[in-house]
Amino acid sequence: VKRIGVLTSGGDAPGMNPAIRAVVRKAIYHDVEVYGVKYGYQGLMEGNMSKMDLGSVGDIIQRGGTILYSARSEEFKTDEGQQRAIEQMKKHGIEGLIVIGGDGSFRGAKKLTEKGFPCIGVPGTIDNDIAGTDFTIGFDTALNTVIEAIDRVRDTATSHERTYIIETMGRNAGDLALWAGLSGGAESIIIPEKEEPFQDVCDRLVRGHQRGKKHSIIVLAEGVGSGFEYGERIKKETNLETRVTVLGYIQRGGSPTAQDRVLASRLGAKAVELLINGNAGRMVGIQNNKLVDYDINEILSLKHHINEDMYNLSKELSI
Ligand code: F6P
Repeated sequence: VKRIGVLTSGGDAPGMNPAIRAVVRKAIYHDVEVYGVKYGYQGLMEGNMSKMDLGSVGDIIQRGGTILYSARSEEFKTDEGQQRAIEQMKKHGIEGLIVIGGDGSFRGAKKLTEKGFPCIGVPGTIDNDIAGTDFTIGFDTALNTVIEAIDRVRDTATSHERTYIIETMGRNAGDLALWAGLSGGAESIIIPEKEEPFQDVCDRLVRGHQRGKKHSIIVLAEGVGSGFEYGERIKKETNLETRVTVLGYIQRGGSPTAQDRVLASRLGAKAVELLINGNAGRMVGIQNNKLVDYDINEILSLKHHINEDMYNLSKELSI
């Protein structure tokens, strides 16, 4: 393999930049050229790509977002779109592609691989919702952002007798809410995988209130529904004063944590290794701190699961 491409696709995640850096430097280390594709699959179809060198990834390891930009492309989901993308890569002499993104991005990588163009997926999303890897790039940074927000809300909460609901992102996955709720000391964690009966949540709040608890924090994953609606229901049922904070896109920004930088560097480099060794249609991941790789089809057919032990522990610690 003489030349490969790299792109970031779907929702950006902190750590995508260190992943791009690792791909570029590892490839150059092995005398392989790298083309950076801008705006994900959209840019791929349009031939929006150029050669990257060691300097083009200098000073980005600490930066959030993605220097290659990202997009969600409807056109690329069509056969014609995928053919156009392959033609562009052939035209530029690219022999393999590394896709940094979430499951939607992997579906694109799978399609290209099926059409004969080798792709390797690197899991990058704050949602941590990909099977076959304990962590996705960006999750740790987003988690720390959420914890900081919870701590701040807690500061103001101690001055009032209120119930606070903090809505986190995560799409259909509850990981961000679960990890943040446990590490932020939330009274309740509401996630799509384990919806606790609403009455139980209310009963616990009222019990706490009767015990003299001044405030309570509920972390709710967006996959369950709107934090505002949940807050209204709580207020109606318990008569407790409620306030809602929807954290939104601040969870996607910020300088990647050390954890995410290391993960991104390891996964990015591993993806290059696989590609130059002739692999195709694989996803790299980390399990028990060891690098692994799986067939992308298998990954897409599996469901990511939350850590049950952690969920149970969170219940035990918030009685
Ligand atoms: O997948 C990352 C994520 O931030 C989800 O947590 C969220 O539901 C979604 O992307 C938002 O997507 P968009 O950037 O298209 O608004």
